[in-house]
Amino acid sequence: MQQELTANLLKPAASLSPKFFYDALGSKLFEAITLLDEYYPTRTEAAIFEASRADMAQALVDAGIRSPCLIDLGAGNCAKAASLMPALQPRQYVPVDISVEFMRDAAAQVQNSFPALDIVGVGMDFSSGLQLPAEVQPHDRVFFYPGSSLGNFHPDEARGFLQHIADPAEGHARGLLLGIDLVKDSATLEAAYADALGVTAAFNKNLLLNVNRLLGSDFSVSQWQHVAFFDRALSRIEMHLEARMDLQVSWPGQQRRFRAGERIHTECSYKYTLDGMQALLHQAGFSQVRHWTDPKQWFAVFWATV
Ligand code: AVJ
Repeated sequence: MQQELTANLLKPAASLSPKFFYDALGSKLFEAITLLDEYYPTRTEAAIFEASRADMAQALVDAGIRSPCLIDLGAGNCAKAASLMPALQPRQYVPVDISVEFMRDAAAQVQNSFPALDIVGVGMDFSSGLQLPAEVQPHDRVFFYPGSSLGNFHPDEARGFLQHIADPAEGHARGLLLGIDLVKDSATLEAAYADALGVTAAFNKNLLLNVNRLLGSDFSVSQWQHVAFFDRALSRIEMHLEARMDLQVSWPGQQRRFRAGERIHTECSYKYTLDGMQALLHQAGFSQVRHWTDPKQWFAVFWATV
């Protein structure tokens, strides 16, 4: 982890992985983001689940999946999966998240609501590969990947990750329920990543505090400013931290100077078209693909079977 951080900070175009957003405070700040007016994805996706829950449950039954093992990728507060439990009736629930403590508390709450449910919490960073423990049942696996988190991967990596899930020898997925943010006008997209209250800015800058802890560096948050924009050609939101002045950052054995205006790239959030995501799922090895969307087509939930 220290090596990865150091290597990325020393590159001419410095970067930090978005997975480091999610320390305890970062997970809370992300929760706060989902409550903002400007951040439409969470609420739009929730409305799609609300409107189409029964349809989704039927889609599983149509695929011959009766009581799935529900594998929740990036489970966070487990709220989305919990809202689907009554409809999907999973036999086993597997929340997976890099923020282990946060996820364990949430999983305990789910256990309270569904005492008979077999829950296997997995604390791990699956961005570089998904290795599930042996307690996770191999049959009737349904992967649940909501919230457009797949958008953090570059499209080639996203395809590789989905391929891994669909592979009968690896992820053993029978099906995948995937929430993904769609391409739309730039103003709406950019407001969602540069909210008026500055919560997203705080979320972005908190990355520096987490890195200070992980690396022993001396980033000073007040020297950095939040930058977010939509690159339509690449179909992605980019978030950066921009140095407000010439400055220097040190950590054990290393240091780096940043010029005023120089940036650290902290996140890509890819936006897809309905056709683009459908094609990606087919390329990854899913045979049947369907989707639900909201009236404005701002967000989509895909159901894909192997
Ligand atoms: C959790 C990756 C889906 O890309 O919209 C929110 C993270 N970053 N605001 C997203 C995020 C800035 C979020 N994902």
